[in-house]
Amino acid sequence: MPATASSPVATAAEAPRRTVHVDVAGRPYDIHIGPGLLQEAGARIAALRPGARVAIVTDANVAAVHLAAVEASLAATGIEHVAVVVEPGEKTKGYKGLEQVVEALIGARIERRDLVLALGGGVVGDLTGFAAAVLRRGVDVVQAPTTLLSQVDSSVGGKTGINSPQGKNLVGAFHQPVLVLADTAALDTLPVREVKAGYAEVVKYGLLGDAAFFDTLEKDWRGVIEGGPERIFAVAKSCEAKAAIVARDEKETGDRALLNLGHTFGHALEAGAGFSDRLLHGEAVAIGMALAFAFSRRLGLCPGQDVTRVERHLQAVGLPTRIADVPGDLPDTDGLMRLIAQDKKVSRGALTFILVSGIGEAFVAKDVDGAEVRAFLDEVR
Ligand code: GLY
Repeated sequence: MPATASSPVATAAEAPRRTVHVDVAGRPYDIHIGPGLLQEAGARIAALRPGARVAIVTDANVAAVHLAAVEASLAATGIEHVAVVVEPGEKTKGYKGLEQVVEALIGARIERRDLVLALGGGVVGDLTGFAAAVLRRGVDVVQAPTTLLSQVDSSVGGKTGINSPQGKNLVGAFHQPVLVLADTAALDTLPVREVKAGYAEVVKYGLLGDAAFFDTLEKDWRGVIEGGPERIFAVAKSCEAKAAIVARDEKETGDRALLNLGHTFGHALEAGAGFSDRLLHGEAVAIGMALAFAFSRRLGLCPGQDVTRVERHLQAVGLPTRIADVPGDLPDTDGLMRLIAQDKKVSRGALTFILVSGIGEAFVAKDVDGAEVRAFLDEVR
């Protein structure tokens, strides 16, 4: 069934609050977008699941800023709740973090009719979603993403999971949320570098399938970073695009792979930089998208002017676009090729890339020749 936006995303100027309706595999849910939604968590959850108890899972950084507001909102509507606070950072998204969360949820006697509320960025959302998926063989989860990246990507679409020592996101489950509360005011407390990194995933939706959205972003990007109607518009547009793709292909057997635009090169660079502050995920995606456009041009698929336009926009925002923009050492071309080959987007040895024939026109290319990729990387380094 197709995903539909119940309040169509028209223009940035008229974007106070938005709701994007996701209809995936017969389990529809709403994504509410706008400022002040964390303060409404109680009322919205009470309306969705009367009588449910709620376990809020969050990290210590997010707890310091937002937990009190969410707890007050739940208390105001008489919802019984507990909070589980984990350590911030990617390291928490592993077996130990999963054990901590699952055991805390069992200890709090969270049952199938109750709800787990993931309050935080991608690490909290992925970990909590997976904990909810396996707890008692499946407890429903509400996602309350507090970063731009998680509002436009990880909180929507049901991918949950943890990292294995052998690679990121290798253990997980598809577990769609029953509600997403994307409080755009939560982004005001984030470092601007993090908001800009999340913005790369917003640009991705324009680049992969909506040239008009990319045009808008070229004009309005400052409002997305700084806040205001442009931000609400851009988050809603991104969620709408993701919802449509996920509704067509929940389990990534086809079109959903388009969401990996920029991620094959990007993941290799992120891994090469040791998943550290040297290169945030969204920054890696920005370089990866610029490289995906340049690689597509090298293959004769994409006009050079589109490559230039993409690079210029990302640079104007202050995002990196070149491998040389990553501070510190990176693996050589052989090392990057090994990292690309390890990526989960490799199917039986053949390289799968998301390539483009222009802005807004991405496609899945299977059997990409590794020698072409190697020659390209040698050329651009
Ligand atoms: N972040 C890519 C996906 O949700 O499929």
